Amino acid sequence: MSALLSARGLKIAFGGLKAADGVDLDVDDGEFLAIIGPNGAGKTTFINMATGYLRPQAGKISYAGRNILGMTPRQIVRLGIGRSFQLPQLFTEHTVLENAALAVAARDGIWSPFSPLLRPRFKQEAEELLDRFGLLSQAGQRANALNEGARKLTDIAMAVALRPRLLLMDEPTSGVASSDKMAVVEVLARVLRQSGVTAVFVEHDMEVVARFADRVAVWGQGRITALGPPDQVLNDPDVRREVIGLAPGEASHAAA
Ligand SMILES: Nc1ncnc2c1ncn2[C@@H]1O[C@H](COP(=O)(O)OP(=O)(O)OP(=O)(O)O)[C@@H](O)[C@H]1O
Ligand SMILES: [Mg+2]
Repeated sequence: MSALLSARGLKIAFGGLKAADGVDLDVDDGEFLAIIGPNGAGKTTFINMATGYLRPQAGKISYAGRNILGMTPRQIVRLGIGRSFQLPQLFTEHTVLENAALAVAARDGIWSPFSPLLRPRFKQEAEELLDRFGLLSQAGQRANALNEGARKLTDIAMAVALRPRLLLMDEPTSGVASSDKMAVVEVLARVLRQSGVTAVFVEHDMEVVARFADRVAVWGQGRITALGPPDQVLNDPDVRREVIGLAPGEASHAAA
């Protein structure tokens, strides 16, 4: 496998706080890479740098062999990098179908809030998209009436409407009821694998990480402190002590 996204020496500081302090990471084409680490470690900052929301003060980032440093978020989306946010960015007063149709239309360069549903082509594609995410039965509901799992999936479906080759997801299961988490990630992983999308996701639930990640990158104070397959990284004594909060050898789902 070759690197789809490649970061070298990324640095950014806010005042005296180093949110990225020399981040080197290759994301391989086709993999699901989980990012774990404590609050404030710089996980979201990395996603912001990779998607053009923050410009690193030093370092390089390339995507599919092309330098993307200094590009705007919209330029980066057009190249094929999608993202979803810690808090879903939905039009809450609109229905799930309208949200999906807006995303489909936006991909075609149409940003009007009203026209997408008037065009059968957008509506049909939006319905197909929702069906893939198991959301079709909720298509007519307003986004603010959804539970958090469906809200997260709708947000990710909107990112997928833009047909990314790489999708960066910031905590796709945060706020989702623990009884729904696995089902949400199952759907997500199935759709992304079927579409051949490479995924990077920030995750605090180690059971989700163990089950869905091909590799795990551990963030600590703006740096990657461990990187490897889940069975290795999640059983590393330092990672277990500092990130997962378990003593080495203590039983957890993460070790499964
Ligand atoms: N735009 C910004 N301006 C100032 N400080 C920022 C900015 N973005 C992030 N920070 C700071 O940088 C540090 C890293 O933040 P970041 O959001 O990347 O952490 P995180 O690992 O995503 O944490 P969490 O798990 O809580 O989401 C934090 O101390 C945060 O307050
Ligand atoms: Mg964050």
